[in-house]
Amino acid sequence: MVKPWDDDNLEGPASFIGMTDEPRRGGSFFGRRKGKPLRLGQRQAVETVLPKLLVDLSKPAPIRLSELFENSVDAVRLEIGFGGGEHLLHAARTNPATGFIGVEPFESGLAKAVTAIGREAIRNVRLYDQDAVLLLDWLPPASIARIDLLFPDPWPKKRHWKRRFVNQANLDRIARCLVAEGTLRLATDVESYAEWVCEEVVKHPRTIVVGDSGEPWSDWPGTRYEAKAARAGRGARYITVALRANDTPSN
Ligand SMILES: C[S@@+](CC[C@H](N)C(=O)[O-])C[C@H]1O[C@@H](n2cnc3c(N)ncnc32)[C@H](O)[C@@H]1O
Repeated sequence: MVKPWDDDNLEGPASFIGMTDEPRRGGSFFGRRKGKPLRLGQRQAVETVLPKLLVDLSKPAPIRLSELFENSVDAVRLEIGFGGGEHLLHAARTNPATGFIGVEPFESGLAKAVTAIGREAIRNVRLYDQDAVLLLDWLPPASIARIDLLFPDPWPKKRHWKRRFVNQANLDRIARCLVAEGTLRLATDVESYAEWVCEEVVKHPRTIVVGDSGEPWSDWPGTRYEAKAARAGRGARYITVALRANDTPSN
């Protein structure tokens, strides 16, 4: 399978097999949006269920983000690049009083998650299908209890490191959205990305690494990408980032 981060000549997502979208420059999404054609059930779920779940960025965000959810939720979490949604859906099923926003621009992953949400009538998930940066900029300050960024596209080649999701600009966005006690959880199977994250977090005035382990967090269901990495003999680093003490959310 062609992976975005393996392509030496990548200039934007349109250079990938199956891509039909225009490349979006200046954001944080460089991957494919389309893969294999969707199965009938997935196509139907995308047409009927997805429109009810999508967060609409053309309207201002509600001051109380919990209003995005039809059931009552006492906190909101965000997962960026949820892939097939294994972790997102496990978290939503096991935390029914928490609202989850999942972001995934890759159609096949999105369709898989939407199909499961429709089948199981999961009520505490909303979705966004574009670059997570746009959603982060839309969210109210200090509105998110936890952000999960699990196995972000690794961009292992040094000349591509600037495409990595974790950078000073996105740490600004993440720090703005997190509540004071909030955390960012990041997992990666690429050692240079783990080191990169720690360096970027240390450089950033509002963030601090509070956990860095070769073992996942206790409430961890695993992810599809993690399982692939394990089959290839690669372990992972599980890093927890918090806001520095006395951090005041800014607008
Ligand atoms: C390596 S995959 C990991 C998927 C999943 N988290 C897992 O562990 O199985 C990275 C995912 O991040 C998504 N992604 C990359 N850049 C993104 C961005 N700027 N906003 C939202 N999702 C993004 C990709 O579409 C891809 O599905």
